[in-house]
Amino acid sequence: MPNTILIGAQWGDEGKGKIIDVLTDRADLVVRMQGGNNAGHTVLVGKKKYVLHLIPSGILRARKKCVIGNGVVIDPVHLVGEIEGLKKLGVDVKGNLFVSETAHIVFPYHRLLDEYREASKGKNKIGTTKRGIGPAYGDKAARTGIRMVDLMDPETFSALLKQRIKANNDILSPLGAKKLSFKKVLEEYLAAAKKLKPFVTDTVHMLHEASKNNANILFEGAQGTFLDIDHGTYPYVTSSATTSGGACTGSGVAPNKIDKVVGVMKAYTTRVGEGPMPTEDDFLGDHFHNMGREYGATTGRARRCGWLDAVLTRHATMVNGINELAITNLDGLDTLPVIKVCVGYRLGNKKIDRLPNAMGALEKCKPIYTEYPGWQTSTEKCRKWSDLPLNARRYLKEIAKLSGTRLKIASIGPARSQTIEL
Ligand code: GDP
Ligand code: IMO
Ligand code: MG
Repeated sequence: MPNTILIGAQWGDEGKGKIIDVLTDRADLVVRMQGGNNAGHTVLVGKKKYVLHLIPSGILRARKKCVIGNGVVIDPVHLVGEIEGLKKLGVDVKGNLFVSETAHIVFPYHRLLDEYREASKGKNKIGTTKRGIGPAYGDKAARTGIRMVDLMDPETFSALLKQRIKANNDILSPLGAKKLSFKKVLEEYLAAAKKLKPFVTDTVHMLHEASKNNANILFEGAQGTFLDIDHGTYPYVTSSATTSGGACTGSGVAPNKIDKVVGVMKAYTTRVGEGPMPTEDDFLGDHFHNMGREYGATTGRARRCGWLDAVLTRHATMVNGINELAITNLDGLDTLPVIKVCVGYRLGNKKIDRLPNAMGALEKCKPIYTEYPGWQTSTEKCRKWSDLPLNARRYLKEIAKLSGTRLKIASIGPARSQTIEL
């Protein structure tokens, strides 16, 4: 398999975990390059369900090497919990997991700041996962972050942490937060450090060597294009580069080593958290929630649901350079008589086919829909393209065309077998 970046083409939760798990079969290494444990990637293997937050979904395939790259922000206590949780489910990560020395660390004060900032925004809140992601990336940019390499050296770590706890207590105490105890955080983080030491390494050189030896690298994006700090619906975004460009800076693999970009999108749209979503539709939300689906894998929040927005997916193709599309959750539309797709927006008395950058304008955009006849047949048991009902095939081809790229994979259920490759 050529070196491939896989990213979400919408607002996250597109089914990246499932598609990564399928594609890992052909890869040697899987790399996470951004985000933190705000991500929740679900993989179904047989009857077992795994939800991965920091560890690449590729870990579920035997002998595949998985890397948490420098662009990720790591909560070490959470990471230890995730490793132990996997062990309980029968997955031993030893020898297969590598964690970047230069990845930044998430601390309890980041989570507190995340909460306080959200509360202070009132109705303008972002609806974050409260995992401290924004404040951790904020410290990285402000050059006040602490990295995994620092955590591996107790003396260095202790000195840095002392200073950071004091500075953050000075900010948080006037807001009414209980003072964080330096000693308690130090103990907790050094205990995690001890458990993580065997995994922490220079992943940039490791990936470079692997690449020289023609290893196939699969990059696992977290979140989605419209949560990107630059290209997303700012400020209703996460704090990292979720688009394909982030794969290089977040891993240290150079752009000329990348062969392909795969975009994953749902056959409709979902979003968790606040911010504009032009095609949001209560009927569709009820439809999915009544089926027991579209609840967040990290926070359990009900996802907002809407029709496919081709203005968005076309933009995603442009900024990511998507060569191939994986369209998931087609089966969610199986029972509907009519399926709508947004092909443009009406803004005041103007028709537009681009995403406006001002959030006030995006909020006012009314979708212009094209309607497609449904197939009203279950697709769950389809195993090849010709098994799919004709209207389902037409719908898939049409939304790939509207998204300006090529359909490669259709997914009709969470299981590995429920995947059709063209
Ligand atoms: P990710 O964050 O992009 O990895 O996606 P999540 O795991 O948060 O959410 C996607 C959900 O859809 C998970 O529950 C997956 O098991 C599920 N899923 C993925 N593809 C399909 C599909 O084609 N059909 C159905 N029914 N579920 C799917
Ligand atoms: P995966 O990888 C969906 C959303 C939050 C919020 C915004 C900012 O599973 O697709 P943050 O905690 O990152 O500061 O929250 O981003 N968000 C996600 N939405 N899937 C995710 O990850 C998300 N990670 C963050 O809901 O709107
Ligand atoms: Mg998710």
